[in-house]
Amino acid sequence: MRAHTLIPSALLLLGSLTLTAACSHGSGTPGPTPEAQPGPPSTASRTVDPSKIKGLEIVNDSSEQSSCPFAVSYPDVPGAEAMTAAMKKDVDQRLDTFRSNRCGSGSASGGEFNVSHRFLVASGDVLGVRLTTLDGSGAGNGQSAKSYWYDGKDGAYRQALDLIADGSRDAFSAALKKRLRGHEGVDPTYLDDAFADATHLAGLLDDLSFTTDGGLRVEFEPGTVGGTAAGSFVVSFTKAAITPWLSPFGKRAQKQTERPSDGLDLGATSTPSAAVPTHTASADDDTDCTKVKCIALTFDDGPAAPETATLLDHLARYKARTTFFVVGQNMAAHPALVRAEAKAGHEIGNHTWNHPDLTKLTPEQVAYQLRRTSAAIKAATGKAPTLFRPPYGAINTKVKAATTLAPVLWDIDTEDWKYRDSAKVAQTVIAKARRNSVVLMHDIHPTSVAAVPQILRTLTAEGFHFVTVSHLRATL
Ligand code: NI
Repeated sequence: MRAHTLIPSALLLLGSLTLTAACSHGSGTPGPTPEAQPGPPSTASRTVDPSKIKGLEIVNDSSEQSSCPFAVSYPDVPGAEAMTAAMKKDVDQRLDTFRSNRCGSGSASGGEFNVSHRFLVASGDVLGVRLTTLDGSGAGNGQSAKSYWYDGKDGAYRQALDLIADGSRDAFSAALKKRLRGHEGVDPTYLDDAFADATHLAGLLDDLSFTTDGGLRVEFEPGTVGGTAAGSFVVSFTKAAITPWLSPFGKRAQKQTERPSDGLDLGATSTPSAAVPTHTASADDDTDCTKVKCIALTFDDGPAAPETATLLDHLARYKARTTFFVVGQNMAAHPALVRAEAKAGHEIGNHTWNHPDLTKLTPEQVAYQLRRTSAAIKAATGKAPTLFRPPYGAINTKVKAATTLAPVLWDIDTEDWKYRDSAKVAQTVIAKARRNSVVLMHDIHPTSVAAVPQILRTLTAEGFHFVTVSHLRATL
């Protein structure tokens, strides 16, 4: 039950919606919710450290081309395969639609497609994840969010509405309608239609999450209970008001949000922990690029397990140094891999938190995307980055003015995200390699990582030295 709308991508921010209209909040006090302001997610929601989730992998897919700008990211947690499958189905369907509308020949102009994730709960036997989707193609759904749940006790994927007991859904719906009715921006016709069909209720109420004080937050996306221009609406229930309506699973999810247990156990048969290489740079790089042929390989969108670890092994074998432009939400899952990159003598650059087109954001949003990621890099490696790569190479004077980081583009594009063909990726780099080139690749794709040994072997034989971007710039 999603409206067919186009929302400016400037509204994209992690889990926080600038369009959120003032609606009932807390015990019914009217006024703007914390989500009404651009910026970080509400402090009322639980902060989960994903690096503590054993065996976690982040499913990533993205392009680096402004003619087909997309980036999707969602977690794959061992034991919760049914939930991963539900996210994959939703994301793939929307991405396919976006790509066929936006990226084909004669494609229409339009915005980007972005799916970012945030953990709501990851402890005890409860996993909750919220995906925020922005579809700026004009053919998609505009902006929306959905929460996905996994019940480790029963070994089952749960939809958001499953937090509410079957027998309490009528009362819950009636309470929501009552809170929304008469509110500015809520259209009575939309409202009655939205709640008229009980079979569509799970689609309408697909974004439920608990607050740290045990309350429940329900978000209605644009176009569901009011016109699209009215934006989204948030209704919050206090713990006392919502608890009698919760299902047994809902009560466990509420408890894990309020007072998380140590660790997550979904009953997975195996949770292999990803290998983290321990290569250590022997000394500073003294390569003089005025005297020898240098080239800077760059790897974007990671880190990814296990691909980044494999790549670090390849690079160590040839004593090659490179630059990694990491994405914050991936780094949150695998900080140890970024630490390993830095320890091996590679440079870490900033590639934003969730890969938006920065030219579509406000200066404050640009600053937030970069600042949050730089802080995560500094926390993992002890050193703040000095470089950033704008997703899709999209940059303008406004973006440059919003940060002190220096932008890095590229002159050799392997288009490895498109081809997924190791031989083709290796051939492209080898054929186009010139002195002082900056090469764009992505370490989230196994095919790109597999192309690296041949690139290193061939170009080393041709006399190339592999250096970081900062080293190349400093010695030219
Ligand atoms: Ni990228």
